Amino acid sequence: MCGIVGYIGERQAYPIVVKGLKRLEYRGYDSAGVALIDEHLSVYKKKGKVADMEEAIVGQHLGGHVGIGHTRWATHGEPSDRNAHPHRSASGKLAMIHNGIIENYMAIKEELTQKGYHFSSDTDTEVLLNFIEDIRVNNACGLEEALRIALKRIVGAYCILLIDEDDPDTILAARKGSPLVIGIGKNEHFLASDASPIIEYTKEVVYVNDYQVAIVKKDELVLKNLGNEKVTPFITKLDMELAAIEKGGYDHFMLKEIHEQPATIFDCLRGRLLPEAGLIKMGGVEANIDALINAPRIIIVACGTSWHAGLVAEYLIEETCRIPVEVEYASEFRYRNPIIHPGDVIIAISQSGETADTLVALENAKEKGAFIFGIVNSVGSSIARLSHAGAYTHSGPEIGVASTKAFTGQLAVISMMALKMAAAKGTITTEKYTELLFELQAIPEKVATILKDTSHIEAIAEKYKDASDFLFLGRGYNFPVALEGALKLKEISYIHAEGYPAAEMKHGPIALVDENLPVVFVATRDRFYEKIVSNVQEIKARKGKVICVASEGDKVIPTMADDTMFVPDADELVGPLLSVIPLQLLSYYVGLKKGYDVDKPRNLAKSVTVE
Ligand code: G6P
Repeated sequence: MCGIVGYIGERQAYPIVVKGLKRLEYRGYDSAGVALIDEHLSVYKKKGKVADMEEAIVGQHLGGHVGIGHTRWATHGEPSDRNAHPHRSASGKLAMIHNGIIENYMAIKEELTQKGYHFSSDTDTEVLLNFIEDIRVNNACGLEEALRIALKRIVGAYCILLIDEDDPDTILAARKGSPLVIGIGKNEHFLASDASPIIEYTKEVVYVNDYQVAIVKKDELVLKNLGNEKVTPFITKLDMELAAIEKGGYDHFMLKEIHEQPATIFDCLRGRLLPEAGLIKMGGVEANIDALINAPRIIIVACGTSWHAGLVAEYLIEETCRIPVEVEYASEFRYRNPIIHPGDVIIAISQSGETADTLVALENAKEKGAFIFGIVNSVGSSIARLSHAGAYTHSGPEIGVASTKAFTGQLAVISMMALKMAAAKGTITTEKYTELLFELQAIPEKVATILKDTSHIEAIAEKYKDASDFLFLGRGYNFPVALEGALKLKEISYIHAEGYPAAEMKHGPIALVDENLPVVFVATRDRFYEKIVSNVQEIKARKGKVICVASEGDKVIPTMADDTMFVPDADELVGPLLSVIPLQLLSYYVGLKKGYDVDKPRNLAKSVTVE
């Protein structure tokens, strides 16, 4: 989390840095700031969003051809002007921004305090900055060397940009665990946490690796490791268009991304799913098919929405491939000293490819010899690079903090992967396999049908927006969908919502049911249909308000439910790709009607690069 931008070149840095920060705001938005060097170093920062900072500094001298900027998601110290980045060193000469956490900052702070340093913020960043300055003074060395020495002493994760008033021709950058991309222009360089601030200027980029330091001048980019040896920068071409990161006429990115799903699911299936030929082409799966189908066990590691996609994968892979699957929260898995047997396969699911807990869990598992397969949206991200093999979801950049199209992209990849593995393993009949290929092919159009008219979902949102709690229930493949529906609602509307397996409801949550509690059932026609109808009755008998996601043409559910949202019929194995869509829309409209910023919900960040 936290977004980082830097510019060095011949243009004015400030407009580029601010525009870039707005593109990165999804990463954190509790305060923002910039540092510019014109004749002198100036630092401006403000609690709130980037626009608040912009407004606060109107009329200031904002010149200079070198600048760095930061949009923050607080870790050390509350969101405030003083804790906002950039931070200035004690001498006032250096300014630094940082994404990540320095774990041993207390010990270093203590050391510096004893030497007489005072700190004007509560951040670990200011400690690191003064530590670097202190090393430079004591060792009488250059800033680059001081930076390297400091980085060898610190524990934790960082992406930092550092500028020095006395050397306005250089930005120093370094990363470990938090992403950094450098765009290469003509006599200019752009630095950012991801490529979105860079794409309108250049498509040539270098992804900086862990333990590398970049010495960036307008016409030169030098990469070194912490041992001061040069590393050849590997230049890649961005495969992304500017339009993909703009709102394109929608009021919010979240709404745009919900509506993009027919196209993004189609893009994910395109060239891979060939029902007429009875084929699924997935290079990463094909190349490792033996490892995958002979795995004694598959462990899926993920966080948040991606973890819910992992639960769907568990149902799918176990059912079609008959391989035991465990789905783990990355944060728990990494600290548990997990047992990994030879041959175990780890599937990592991540939209951003940068989630710190997932990343470290994978690093640990890789060290123990596990085979890592990554299902990632963000091309070239850390998880994508760490995986032995993988499949991109091709959902395009997802900017809204609440994940929508990335989730359905993950489901599409997982479905193809499970079917391909099942066919190779011989655990699915040819008829069922072929039928499911056609079912998958039909999904984009069916999603488009749901999105054609959403006014009834908006009306349902209006009706229930003042509820203080919601319960989401589903069975089988729709159980993870219920969890995802609850997560979406709490993220966007701040209404307390819980997801449960519908049958488990009677072992506790049913105590909550009264005439004020809306209960959302994901009740499409599948093998559990009769059972979920009984669960609906149980809620109605206790005067709960029932909202159902039901299959088109269902005549029973609408007679019991207070409100129904229909989705086209589909085989239950691919059903979540449809049943989640009304739930995404429901939370969008509830959040909107409550007047919240649906693209940037409070306290959240899209890419959680701290543990
Ligand atoms: C954050 C986001 C969630 C996301 C989760 C995992 O919490 O707010 O929307 O599901 O991280 O992110 P990943 O990028 O690994 O899928």
